[in-house]
Amino acid sequence: MEAGYRPAEPPLLEVEGLSKSFVSKGLLGKATTVDAVRDVRFSLARGQAIALVGESGSGKSTVAKLLLRLERPDRGQIRLAGRDVLRDEPHGASLGYRRRVQMVFQDPFGSLNPGHDVLHHLARPLLRHRRATPADVRSKAAALLVRVGLEPAQEFLDRRPFELSGGQRQRVAIARALAVEPDVLIADEPTSMLDVSVRVGILNLLAGLKREQGLALVLITHDLASARYLADRILVCHRGRVVEDADTETLLAAPKHPYTRALLAAIEGLEADEKPRPRAAEPTAGGCRFASRCPEVFDLCRTSEPEPRAAGAAMVRCHLYGAAAGSEPVAASAPAQT
Ligand SMILES: Nc1ncnc2c1ncn2[C@@H]1O[C@H](COP(=O)(O)OP(=O)(O)OP(=O)(O)O)[C@@H](O)[C@H]1O
Ligand SMILES: [Mg+2]
Repeated sequence: MEAGYRPAEPPLLEVEGLSKSFVSKGLLGKATTVDAVRDVRFSLARGQAIALVGESGSGKSTVAKLLLRLERPDRGQIRLAGRDVLRDEPHGASLGYRRRVQMVFQDPFGSLNPGHDVLHHLARPLLRHRRATPADVRSKAAALLVRVGLEPAQEFLDRRPFELSGGQRQRVAIARALAVEPDVLIADEPTSMLDVSVRVGILNLLAGLKREQGLALVLITHDLASARYLADRILVCHRGRVVEDADTETLLAAPKHPYTRALLAAIEGLEADEKPRPRAAEPTAGGCRFASRCPEVFDLCRTSEPEPRAAGAAMVRCHLYGAAAGSEPVAASAPAQT
């Protein structure tokens, strides 16, 4: 072996072909299958943030649940630091996996127990994952509060959730996730229930953790503005599919998929009529799932579902960039560049 040779490190988190459908009973007892997540793939490096963006029902939280292993995918792989975790841990996530992949939820009040003080919330993971002993748990918990900007920490440790503002509660939830020194933090709409004035503070905190501690982030949001602020890469989700995947600058400067363009137009306040609406549950037909709302629809879109293809630096699932346009299919064996 040559001096200085080191094998290439696998990506921290990689998913491929991730798919999950749910069967739900309709009003008349008729079972319908919802393709909540279909063939999602991405890879995430240490210190990188990706955002999953899309309207309500596009499958974002289902991806989060699959990554947290709260749901089992029907198909696909999840690799953490190169290890196929679904194969190695078929009966549920190991304590090690759960330590490395942590979550922050949308509702900071709902995720904290009103009957317990902040210290209790932080002590539990610290002790459970042996990050602290009963003797030093208070000082370790205080250090966590300093990391998330809640000072004086000693004072905050003794407060209960109702004695905190929404933004402070979300900081406690983030501190609790950090208690076990995770590698990946999944944040599902972490600022959508907060007042606009405190949102930026939370996004800044997450940006600092990524930059300074190499935390990898999966930000789930319907809000492209938050994604722009925090993410290096944006995956646009529509009805269970990732329809466009590109680095943030490319995606915002040159959005390719008509759905991405509609999302961007909505945040710019233009073309109000194009504003994406939550989709109605409808059975899966053969064509592109955006066809019924797409301003650029043509015949092929109604009969055949587009495959992911490379279009410049982006991956896009749209017939506008299909074989006829000379694009390359994105091969399953070559993960999209991240
Ligand atoms: N446990 C479940 N049983 C049945 N259907 C489900 C279940 N979980 C999710 N779904 C369906 O899967 C689809 C995707 O849901 P998901 O919660 O992932 O969307 P989302 O993008 O997070 O939406 P929102 O922005 O509203 O949070 C929806 O149609 C939803 O109704
Ligand atoms: Mg959701």
